[in-house]
Amino acid sequence: MIFTVAIDGPAAAGKGTIGRAVAERFGFAHLDTGLLYRAVGAKVAEGADPVAACALTPGDLARGDLRSAEAGQAASRVAAVPEVRAALLDFQRRFARREGGAVLDGRDIGTVICPEAEVKLYVTASAEVRAGRRWQELGGEAAPLPYATVLAEVVERDARDMGRADAPLRPAVDALILDTSALSIDEAVARAVAAVRARRG
Ligand code: CDP
Ligand code: CDP
Repeated sequence: MIFTVAIDGPAAAGKGTIGRAVAERFGFAHLDTGLLYRAVGAKVAEGADPVAACALTPGDLARGDLRSAEAGQAASRVAAVPEVRAALLDFQRRFARREGGAVLDGRDIGTVICPEAEVKLYVTASAEVRAGRRWQELGGEAAPLPYATVLAEVVERDARDMGRADAPLRPAVDALILDTSALSIDEAVARAVAAVRARRG
């Protein structure tokens, strides 16, 4: 059984949370494609050649520093390089069409990686809500950086991801738009699960 759930959207919209829950519910494999770009960005920040850096090892993907805002910015910069996107394409495509079902979350899954995906979700929320969630993840009042800095980072990264020439972030024409600004995680997951059920019959 080949079945792909493509989840795209801006930073901290809830893509990964929803993707993991949907994958678990249906027994599908899950790929956080942002982690690939974060790992490449981290290697390039250390001086690696961008294309050579795309040969990723399990160790590259297991680095502890990939979730930081700096790694997000480094990812977003290398993600605008067409040769990097091309080098990461095949792995993602094969993952999407693997036997047994797959959920991928990122920026271009429904538009470029797997336009034939059976279900496409564009998960979004206001920049303020998204930055607030990321700030809470960092500890809220105890976070090492103020909310305003997190908001600025999110806005800058979204603008770069939406403005690049190659595979810009945008909803696929046939994507279901899921605005999670006023939804709990459970409500957002329930809507995503319903979309998959509707398509699977
Ligand atoms: O993968 P992405 O960057 O889009 O977002 P995430 O890491 O799944 O979610 C970012 C944060 O928002 C996490 O702390 C989630 O628990 C939270 N979240 C939420 O509060 N409400 C939702 N409906 C979805 C996510
Ligand atoms: O978790 P969050 O939404 O903050 O970011 P991420 O999904 O880990 O992605 C980090 C960066 O990688 C994004 O800002 C994009 O520039 C890039 N990316 C991409 O270009 N295409 C993808 N399919 C996934 C991520």
